[in-house]
Amino acid sequence: MRFNVSFLLAPFLFLLAGCGGLVSQDTAKQGEIAPILTSEEAFDDQTFAKPQEARVTHIDMDLALDFDEKTIGGTATLDVLAADLASEIILDSNGLRVSAVTDEAGNALKFDLGETVEGKGEPFTIQLPAQKLERGAELAEGEFAATHRIVVEYMSAPQAEALQWLSPEQTAGGTHPFVFSQGQAINNRAWIPTQDSPGIRQTWQAVISAPEPLNVVMSGVIQGDPEPEGENRHNFRFVMNNPVPPYLIAIAAGNIQFSELGPRSGVWAEPEVIEAAAQEVGDTEEMIDAGIALFGDYRWGRYDMIILPPAFPYGGMENPVMTFLTPTFIAGDRSNNGLVAHELAHSWSGNLTTYSSWRDGWLNEGVTSYFENRIVEEVYGKERAEQEYALSYAGLVDGIQEVGSDSPVTAMRTPDATSPFDTKGFAIYDKGTVFLRTVENIIGRKKFDTWLTQWFDSHAFEPVTSEMFLADLRKKLIGDDAELEKRLMLDAWVYGTGLPENAWKPDSKAFAEVDSAVAAYANVGTLPDIEVWRDWTAAEQRRFLEELPQDLSNEQLAALNATLELSQTGNNEVLFLWLEVALRNEYGPAVQQAERFLAKVGRNKFVSPLFTALNETEWGKPIAQRIYAETRSSYHAYTRGNVDKTLLFKTSAGTALSD
Ligand code: BES
Ligand code: ZN
Repeated sequence: MRFNVSFLLAPFLFLLAGCGGLVSQDTAKQGEIAPILTSEEAFDDQTFAKPQEARVTHIDMDLALDFDEKTIGGTATLDVLAADLASEIILDSNGLRVSAVTDEAGNALKFDLGETVEGKGEPFTIQLPAQKLERGAELAEGEFAATHRIVVEYMSAPQAEALQWLSPEQTAGGTHPFVFSQGQAINNRAWIPTQDSPGIRQTWQAVISAPEPLNVVMSGVIQGDPEPEGENRHNFRFVMNNPVPPYLIAIAAGNIQFSELGPRSGVWAEPEVIEAAAQEVGDTEEMIDAGIALFGDYRWGRYDMIILPPAFPYGGMENPVMTFLTPTFIAGDRSNNGLVAHELAHSWSGNLTTYSSWRDGWLNEGVTSYFENRIVEEVYGKERAEQEYALSYAGLVDGIQEVGSDSPVTAMRTPDATSPFDTKGFAIYDKGTVFLRTVENIIGRKKFDTWLTQWFDSHAFEPVTSEMFLADLRKKLIGDDAELEKRLMLDAWVYGTGLPENAWKPDSKAFAEVDSAVAAYANVGTLPDIEVWRDWTAAEQRRFLEELPQDLSNEQLAALNATLELSQTGNNEVLFLWLEVALRNEYGPAVQQAERFLAKVGRNKFVSPLFTALNETEWGKPIAQRIYAETRSSYHAYTRGNVDKTLLFKTSAGTALSD
């Protein structure tokens, strides 16, 4: 590369944004185009883009939702910043149907959709308009950059992985269809023609046409009321003036309504769900306050949420200003609200400061899990936070034990030879939490909090790497204190496998009562009384079920269920653990309830392990196949992909779908 567009451009870009007509925004770095990182560790091997040559800085979408065809189509107008005399830009695509590419004046531009690479999609190369004679500003002696505006006319494919089109039967109301997108990790290239890399931040705006009476939400700020458009359709406008990684552009549409929670927050859901939803997320304003008090300003203006139908494959997704949530966290008592704290925390860790490549998963998810626990401590108290930390810790220890402590998938920063999508969830989420808790305790909370606050602040709306995180810690908190450096074991945590020996253990008192109840059950077969059980927190109930002996007889399971009324619990986390233990142990009476659950819920965290549990025994295998044949088509591509692998599900043509 001849020069690094990212940093040299800063003063010039200010002008660019100004004349590009971008709507003014309320951020610290108003008008600036976000930098990209060019270091080796920042490199994203999942994109076809070459951002140092030409990159997208803004996307303007004008799209229509078609529920019959299951497509989103229209135009995307891209602002492109190109290095001196660059002749082309490479975007990411995954099955996009492109009908034309033009410059702003409508002159056709040559383009090429390359060969598909499994899991990645195809490079979408566009010839840039001939270099203007009058070039862009001179950046440094002899170095120039040009801006271009290109218009892509296209449509998503009906099977686009980023989008799930739900039939009315898959919704609570049962009468209107529903659609939602899931961009993370690299799905958005199936419906947005852009550079789909977490290190290439872009501002965006959109006009979306949808059939009445459906409402549309996006991960941007809505502009006024929908405007009528033709017969039975209306248009919604959204703007996101903070540069975001494109995986955070999200859309959902359905028969949804809004319930205000407070001055900054509210929740969208189907009318059948809205009341329970608003009740469950009633602590949101308090959580936002807690987040701000802990780690600095909330920089996105509003924080709204949408409760999706149960087919949503994740617990939550931190789409800016519009967190997407599964309805399965609703328990009636706010006991699963760690999820809300988690997605909210991403407004700092992940959305404000974002990993530059997928190999630094922990920088988003681990830091967020730590932050989540701090919010839980503020809002629900130390005891609950400590219990949730203990669950994370146990998950980490069990996970490492399962794959072996020298397995590369246990490293927080994905090692060279490993795919970034193979790193285990516990290594990113739980190890990340335990790492930061360890650092916090060695450094001291006050000092650590001050450091983390400035970390978010000084890298706001920018990509970051593990190396930058560690270098900043060392510079600002360790200095030349060799003894402290040694005690922290930073490199062992981030680059090493397994669990470093200085790991901060959870308070042994957190689950003292439950653990002795488990021991009593394992040793002499006594179960806690139903009153004791009901008094336990959801975390305590989960701990009990997670620590039960592996092998249980049908009689034991029947007694467990009769005494603790497990199949009647209103908490899906608890129900899931019960069904899992029951199915693993060939407990026939649980099959019907499992079947109903699997027919309704598409959340991978529940669905995959239940099929795995069934698939572990000769008794369960045919049951798994039978249920999956019924439910497969209702699952999101992500969940389907995972279960396909587990069950080696065969298509009618006989080919295994697993890859
Ligand atoms: N950003 C993640 C979801 C995600 C991660 C999607 C990687 C695709 C690729 C989200 O914030 C998340 O972590 N969700 C968890 C919530 C839980 C840890 C509280 C989930 O869905 O279970
Ligand atoms: Zn997360």
